[in-house]
Amino acid sequence: MQSPHDYLLYQGYEECHNEPYPSRHNKVNMGVALNQDCFSLEYILKTAPDIDFEEKMLKFLFDNGVKVPKIMAKDEKTLMIEFLRGGTLSEALREREKNGEDFSDIAAALKDWLVSFHKVCGSFPDGKITSAGDLSLTNFTFVSEGFVYRYDFEKEDYTGSFSDDLHTLAAEILMEPCGEEYKKAAAKALLGGDYDKEKLSGALSRLGGETGLADLG
Ligand SMILES: Nc1ncnc2c1ncn2[C@@H]1O[C@H](COP(=O)(O)OP(=O)(O)O)[C@@H](O)[C@H]1O
Ligand SMILES: [Mg+2]
Repeated sequence: MQSPHDYLLYQGYEECHNEPYPSRHNKVNMGVALNQDCFSLEYILKTAPDIDFEEKMLKFLFDNGVKVPKIMAKDEKTLMIEFLRGGTLSEALREREKNGEDFSDIAAALKDWLVSFHKVCGSFPDGKITSAGDLSLTNFTFVSEGFVYRYDFEKEDYTGSFSDDLHTLAAEILMEPCGEEYKKAAAKALLGGDYDKEKLSGALSRLGGETGLADLG
């Protein structure tokens, strides 16, 4: 695969803007390049120690129809991936609450994403995967066509089940700095008939959250 530098060069683009994104352990930058006709190309450059694993996961999921950003280029430690406009689900949740808008369409799209992941994760060729790993809402985005996409697949614990992941996602929603009523309604919309109070309480406790929030009423 071409390096990010060669990718831009051979497509006739020149980098014109580069902005760091908040990242806990890695280097994540959003880049914009321009070509002679003033067409702009937006991308993410992510530098991480286990980038080969992330590349394998992204490629496997993309090839199996799970919504993740497309890989454009790679060198030893850096992946260049498609930039997904839309902001994180953490931002979307707070934005929707501020505007007095319902979260249930995003919750439904998030559940669809999780279902699509669990349909295929058992056939990942490079290790046993039974969970979607780090389900922080900062690892998801809602794009304008109404789908949720996921980025960030570092090498970590990928054991669990669909139901575990669904309750962890609901716990992630409940941990966000939003009004209790609003986030409980969002968690309820996500869980639907799968809601299990004990499981939600366990997920909240694992994330260091307040277990009392598990009572969705
Ligand atoms: N493909 C992408 N499109 C848009 N934004 C992205 C993309 N990948 C990452 N980001 C942004 O960069 C942040 C950090 O990237 P991420 O891969 O989650 O790394 P980490 O969690 O290790 O810092 C994300 O929370 C998101 O805001
Ligand atoms: Mg992340």
